[in-house]
Amino acid sequence: MKINSLATAVTTACLAACSQLMPKLSPHHEVDFVSEVRPILELRCLECHNRHYSFAGLNLETQKTAMKGGRSGAVILPGAPDQSLLYKVLHLGHENPVAMPPTPERLEREHAHLLHDWIQQGAKWPEGVHLVPPQEWKNRQS
Ligand code: HEC
Repeated sequence: MKINSLATAVTTACLAACSQLMPKLSPHHEVDFVSEVRPILELRCLECHNRHYSFAGLNLETQKTAMKGGRSGAVILPGAPDQSLLYKVLHLGHENPVAMPPTPERLEREHAHLLHDWIQQGAKWPEGVHLVPPQEWKNRQS
């Protein structure tokens, strides 16, 4: 009897501790736009989606232009990555002209996952953060 209740107490304590640990261990951590999403977009997408070269009408430099989307309308639907063109184009086959990026190398899986989770978590884009296309990195201020 005593051993039983001790076991129950230990299990309960562990469950409490483990549930506190869970958010940290979960792969779905809170994605940080500036340190995690911005570098992927700048490195792989901004070259062709900026204010000078906005292929398909899409300029990803600012939150305003990114949320406005391209010729197909909005490409980021906060909370709905699977319906967001910005995420969907990452998985198109290369026979499709809208497969992004259009180079033979696809985004690394973990980068695609980050974009997925970022959109899922509401596509937060902190006020005033402005992405810089690679062509302008040498003049970068921030
Ligand atoms: C080398 C240039 C280039 C790069 C790099 C590039 N794109 Fe594109 N993007 C294009 C072109 C060109 C189109 C139009 C394709 C077509 O329909 O023929 C396009 C179209 C799109 C569209 C469709 C927009 C609409 O409204 O129809 C999305 C979304 C998109 N790109 C997202 C991305 C993302 C995300 C990245 C980075 C992972 C990226 N692109 C990288 C050139 C590029």
